Amino acid sequence: MYYVQEIASDIFWVGGTDKRLERFENMFPLPQGVAFNSHLILDEKTALMDTVDAAISAQFLENIEHVLNGRSLDYLVVGHMEPDHCANIEELLRRYPDLKIVGNKKTFQFLEQFYTFSKPDNYLIVKEGDELPLGRRTLRFFMAPFVHWPEVMFSYEVTEKILFSADAFGCFGSLSGNIFADQTDFEGVYLDESRRYYSNIVGKYGPQVQTVLKKLAKLEIEMIVPLHGPIWRENLPYIIDKYQHWSTYQPEKKGVVLVYASMYGNTENVMNLIAGKLAAKGVQDIRMYDVSKTHPSYIIADAWKFSHLVFGSPTYNLGLYHGMQALLHEMASLNLQNRKVALVGNYTWANAAVRDMTEIIESMKKIEFIGEPFEIQSALKAEQLPELDQLVEAIYASLNADSAELVAEGAGTSTKLI
Ligand SMILES: Cc1cc2nc3c(=O)[nH]c(=O)nc-3n(C[C@H](O)[C@H](O)[C@H](O)COP(=O)(O)O)c2cc1C
Ligand SMILES: [Fe+2]
Ligand SMILES: [Fe+2]
Repeated sequence: MYYVQEIASDIFWVGGTDKRLERFENMFPLPQGVAFNSHLILDEKTALMDTVDAAISAQFLENIEHVLNGRSLDYLVVGHMEPDHCANIEELLRRYPDLKIVGNKKTFQFLEQFYTFSKPDNYLIVKEGDELPLGRRTLRFFMAPFVHWPEVMFSYEVTEKILFSADAFGCFGSLSGNIFADQTDFEGVYLDESRRYYSNIVGKYGPQVQTVLKKLAKLEIEMIVPLHGPIWRENLPYIIDKYQHWSTYQPEKKGVVLVYASMYGNTENVMNLIAGKLAAKGVQDIRMYDVSKTHPSYIIADAWKFSHLVFGSPTYNLGLYHGMQALLHEMASLNLQNRKVALVGNYTWANAAVRDMTEIIESMKKIEFIGEPFEIQSALKAEQLPELDQLVEAIYASLNADSAELVAEGAGTSTKLI
């Protein structure tokens, strides 16, 4: 049975949720599933804003058929050519042979790379600022290259000031009837997943996100409609402020995330002592993760949120323990920057952990190391406790040093993007 919702007059959400998918991009765990949003505009012309993932095609096609109610589909706007939004293009062409697919040059290049069909007669190539009149409504297109793919384009519905923002402002997690963020306990249910989505999927492209936010700053925006997760129609400055922090690599909160690898528990022991000593000094909301236990995407999300990171790892085959190596490599490749970092190393016969952690972290921008790396040889010895206390003191001092306001605030009523 069709399942749709009207998000504005004659604009229908026709997407769906996949709760069964284990991992997004076969990589990121989805404990609450993921939603694929698609919207159908009924006007003198009909326009579909993106399609959905293959997993929910049947529901999606039924939704469209219901909303069209016998009408034909005139336009399909492809904001993003990643397969989680494009699985149904060929089927739509089969059903609506006169369908015009709206995209930019890169959209069609990718379309023909991914799929075996080529239908140039059905392509409508648009560029920055072009408008597509639908009747009462008009769509205007804004290129958003590398948010997070090169062909990404936002569509702005001029009459009701609705921004279709592709994967930007997207979020992991399913939609549960309440498709608007203001209908949900967003902070309780979605914020962490929104940050995990941003940091891991879009995080590398902060400068490109900044470019598009600045470009759209002069637009009045009443609604932000992403391809995943809830839709924004109230308190837009709240989520825009988050995007400001995330895309400029500004932590949202002063605080410490401790991340370690440990086989026999000795590195873990040092990390526990650091955390306990910081807590005794009054530091709150400390996060601690074992890289062998927690999926890196959660650790990366917290690294995006907090200002101070402590990494601890044993040496492994003259290098780094794999989980730590992989995590740090991923953080560097996602362009994480502007953080304060302390290191804990461990070895039994040939030391490499601190050297290798330092090398990867030094490749990241605007990193400030706190104190000297703290190293143990197999296990912590009592005579090292004063040195450990020094490191804790240095972390604590660094936490208190910054007077800059790090706590993100979503106050304000402006609907401008920045
Ligand atoms: C497969 C394997 C490879 C290791 N390679 C090294 C190494 O190259 N150099 C070294 O000093 N220690 C090496 N170690 C030893 C650990 O780094 C060392 O015992 C460390 O203290 C373990 O810390 P943990 O108690 O936190 O697990 C290796 C251990 C294992 C199991
Ligand atoms: Fe995407
Ligand atoms: Fe997506």
